[in-house]
Amino acid sequence: ATHAPLPEKACASITPPYAQLQEKLKTVKNILGGRPLSLAEKILYSHIHNPTETLTDGKITRGETYLQLSPERVAMQDASAQMTLLQFMSAGMSRCAVPASIHCDHLIRAETGADKDLEQSIVNNQEVFDFLESAARKYGIEFWRPGSGIIHQIVLENYAAPGMLMLGTDSHTPNAGGLGMLAIGVGGADAVDALTGTPWELKAPQIVGIKLTGKLNGWATPKDLILHLAGKLTVRGGTGRILEYFGPGVFNQSCTGLATVANMGAEVGATTSTFPYTPGMRSYLAATGRAPVARAADQAASQGFLQADEGAEYDELIEINLSELEPSINGPFTPDLATPLSKFGSFVKEQGWKDELSAGLIGSCTNSSYQDMTSVADLARQAKEAGLKTKVPFLCTPGSEQIRATMERDQVTDVLEDVGGLVLANACGPCIGQWKRDEKKGEENGILTSFNRNFKSRNDGNSQTMNFLASPTVVTAMAFSGKLSFNPMSDSIDLPSGEKFRFTPPRGQDLPSQGFTPGRTSFYPSPMPEPQPNTEVVIKKDSQRLELLEPFTSHFGPHNPRGLELPACEVLMRVRGKCTTDHISAAGPWLKYKGHLTNISENLLITAVNDEGGEVNIAFDHSHTPVESETDTIPSVAKRFKARNQTWALVVDDNYGEGSAREHAALQPRFYGGAVIIARSFARIHETNLKKQAILPLWFVDKSDYTRIGSGDVIETIGLEDLLNGKERPHITIRVTKRTGETFDIQTRHTMSSDQLKWLRAGSALNHIRSKIQQ
Ligand code: F3S
Repeated sequence: ATHAPLPEKACASITPPYAQLQEKLKTVKNILGGRPLSLAEKILYSHIHNPTETLTDGKITRGETYLQLSPERVAMQDASAQMTLLQFMSAGMSRCAVPASIHCDHLIRAETGADKDLEQSIVNNQEVFDFLESAARKYGIEFWRPGSGIIHQIVLENYAAPGMLMLGTDSHTPNAGGLGMLAIGVGGADAVDALTGTPWELKAPQIVGIKLTGKLNGWATPKDLILHLAGKLTVRGGTGRILEYFGPGVFNQSCTGLATVANMGAEVGATTSTFPYTPGMRSYLAATGRAPVARAADQAASQGFLQADEGAEYDELIEINLSELEPSINGPFTPDLATPLSKFGSFVKEQGWKDELSAGLIGSCTNSSYQDMTSVADLARQAKEAGLKTKVPFLCTPGSEQIRATMERDQVTDVLEDVGGLVLANACGPCIGQWKRDEKKGEENGILTSFNRNFKSRNDGNSQTMNFLASPTVVTAMAFSGKLSFNPMSDSIDLPSGEKFRFTPPRGQDLPSQGFTPGRTSFYPSPMPEPQPNTEVVIKKDSQRLELLEPFTSHFGPHNPRGLELPACEVLMRVRGKCTTDHISAAGPWLKYKGHLTNISENLLITAVNDEGGEVNIAFDHSHTPVESETDTIPSVAKRFKARNQTWALVVDDNYGEGSAREHAALQPRFYGGAVIIARSFARIHETNLKKQAILPLWFVDKSDYTRIGSGDVIETIGLEDLLNGKERPHITIRVTKRTGETFDIQTRHTMSSDQLKWLRAGSALNHIRSKIQQ
């Protein structure tokens, strides 16, 4: 490995056009009458497409106005990029309208160690990587090969810049907010908007101001700040909102620390998170070869662009004193179940769980920076000097090749391995279910991770594995103790000599003193590649992994006797309780079918609970026998509906589609003929994804109506026709005909904008875009 600092990158493509953005902001401010703006508003509004034409009523009401935005970049990971590119290809363009990148990280397994896992993952997924690389070449997209690192670390190291607006086809895209920008996780169909130069629509989010005072100390890290906040806000608290941090406590944190906080804003459902420009951001830009971006940002900041205006108003204000913050452990099974570290031991006891840790995992896009790794190495060094080794498997994933190579050069890797750590490939690995762990199959056990997400079965496919989220340093200290009740702030570990060992609070280094080293540059793309239109995009004949997309047929047309109302829909099932995108379209072994809609649809809702009977993956087919209904798996019943051309509906609970930008969770029900979903509430990204695929999301006005509709009932919309004909109406009536023949009406509300209604009418957003390109 070379010790040279990183060379300056070709920055022309990554310095935001600050002068142009500020000019546009001035126009918007004039339209709004000069009111003071928050930072998030400034970034958003400076990216409004044609403000004089699109802001016709002279105001923006947060939570109501739809904004038409022009993002500057798109990032895609290998799992979601497949469907994104298949959709982009069917739009019929020869190049992308904005710079874009593909990152091969999700498909890398975590079994034996970096090199072997990487090699085997490339063999197992060659077909997909070939497809992605050929599409990248054809359309001029930067292609980051397997081994290059996790999408969000690479974006932070290479593309993120203060004041920029970016979309990413992954829910932790907001990680780039650590560099003072707005980075928003979306489904592939939204990314296709940006890639085709179609203005991307977002309802102006509310802004939550989070004022940070004091300074993190002792064991408290940026991860603990967001774990604490997740407990406060819950998984729904950020829905439709941007978290904007400010105050003196922001300015003494590292850029990668802020990125951790921004990353996990996704766990409270926030649209994204952002911070004003800080000295830590400046140093990080310089250390990652982007001094020109830092210079441009310095100037934009001096003109007031990269911070909120004095007097900016927030929809909610939260104040946190970092000096008082204690480490937190969140989980199991939900990221908002926060317990302060000092109380965690008694919590474990109260729950009757075994006081045993079965593995410690550090890394993921949330916590795999150089600072994270050096803090962990500090603890490992202390333990090594005391003669200790980790008591349980201890797995570490560096965030990028640059971090891996720098860790190796600075003897961080050595010390982690000396105490029993296994360094995995620079990829998502265990965070996305690529962790092979047969020894704990079906057994209740507790793991501690520095990851961001802890839904059941996510890491090792075992629904009995309880994943507790913590900072990398708490995870590491626990791995040496082997007990869930261990509190490194106050407890000691017994040494064989009879002496007691106690950790001193960890110290990491935010940036390497000798600079980063790039490592294996063969993983990297050439910057700003030109499209090669003659390249053939590789999809093998009879492939089981990739399948070209057939456009969806519109719900409206001669086949629908109800005109511009939806065709009558039979209710497939009433889904009970938490139903995340993992429940709707599971990951793990299904990841391999991300580019093959027919095959991946076989996993539709297979871990969802049917509220009629309480069973998992059971649905009723009432069509065959009027007396006794048949039961079958959910995908099988959905397939039966499709086979008899029966459009259908789902009735779902609160925060339906929570968790990720996984658009398969919208594509799959649409593929089988789903047309409408009525929810107590929706998660933002998923609701938009449904709209993009022309599934109508409706919200119960009275949440108790949820229980009045069951499987086999038929529902009809009343009022959609008015809406599609341009009439204003916030509500849609649903006429329910029970299986008994009884009929009643309930009220629902919708969040469809006029553009989204065009998608519904066309049969999908993509159908709409294609027809516009062809005009
Ligand atoms: Fe990858 Fe896990 Fe992040 S899957 S992108 S490391 S949340």
